[in-house]
Amino acid sequence: MEPCSPCPLPNGVAVALTPTGVRLVTNRRGSTVWDVRTAAERYAVKVGRPVPETDEHPGCDWAGVAPAREAVVLQLLETFAVYGTWPYGTWNAQPWHEGPSLYELWEPQRSGEREPSLDAAHACADALAVLHEAGWVHGDIQPAHLIIGPDGTATLIDLALARGGPVPDSVDFPYPGSLVHFESPEISRSLLETGTVAPTSASDVYALGASFFVSATGWRHVDYPDDAPRTVQRKAVATTPHRPVTVPGLFGRLIEAMLSPLPGDRPTSAEVRSVLAHQP
Ligand SMILES: Nc1ncnc2c1ncn2[C@@H]1O[C@H](COP(=O)(O)OP(=O)(O)OP(=O)(O)O)[C@@H](O)[C@H]1O
Ligand SMILES: [Mg+2]
Repeated sequence: MEPCSPCPLPNGVAVALTPTGVRLVTNRRGSTVWDVRTAAERYAVKVGRPVPETDEHPGCDWAGVAPAREAVVLQLLETFAVYGTWPYGTWNAQPWHEGPSLYELWEPQRSGEREPSLDAAHACADALAVLHEAGWVHGDIQPAHLIIGPDGTATLIDLALARGGPVPDSVDFPYPGSLVHFESPEISRSLLETGTVAPTSASDVYALGASFFVSATGWRHVDYPDDAPRTVQRKAVATTPHRPVTVPGLFGRLIEAMLSPLPGDRPTSAEVRSVLAHQP
């Protein structure tokens, strides 16, 4: 039997949290996110299910186990998270982070009304540098995964694919790649050639550069048709130079360096943070 969509709030969530209010946030293939309020707190609850194979999509079993894996990563990073199973997969509950994503925050910048806020870019680079300094790689950096809080700090969400600590085999799965719009050429190439790859801090920096670029301009790093199959997108990323970076000034030059085709030519996340810290 196919799981229903959106995934309902599993019974275990009610037992663990005693919700007082529940709101649907996103419902995509493989995952549903709920905004759950309790008397004292607010949580994001992610419910995963395997994605069946179709003519257009190879399917993925890991989507069912991803919430449990993410909860384990959060716990290893000493962030609160609980997780459990439901009939079709796993779920987790984690602290809700209030605020717009980087993409939402820079909407006025994209319409040319304002320059991108380098404070927000600095906050994103800081969050990534802190993760890297702790010995972790995020593996799925994209503008929707960068939440800018009311105090101006950024939080990286969706740590389901992160690497850096002892994740037990029972909740682990091979790195499947990220959204291709933010994948570095070496990651796309390796996935095409060998079907496997490990994300690196340099591929995270590339993804952050591509996130800055699309959030500031609306343009993806590499040009390919919107509806191209994933392997066609990956081939374009692996073989085509990225679009010219049209962002002016130092920020544009920084993005250009972050999108360097060779990982060794990219600045580290700490260097990106330090460049942005010195901007007015
Ligand atoms: N901790 C959180 N705090 C606030 N919002 C969150 C949180 N976790 C997830 N969300 C919201 O839910 C959306 C989807 O979450 P997330 O990316 O973690 O799930 P996903 O299953 O990986 O979905 P996708 O396939 O789109 O990446 C986020 O873009 C964000 O709007
Ligand atoms: Mg996500």
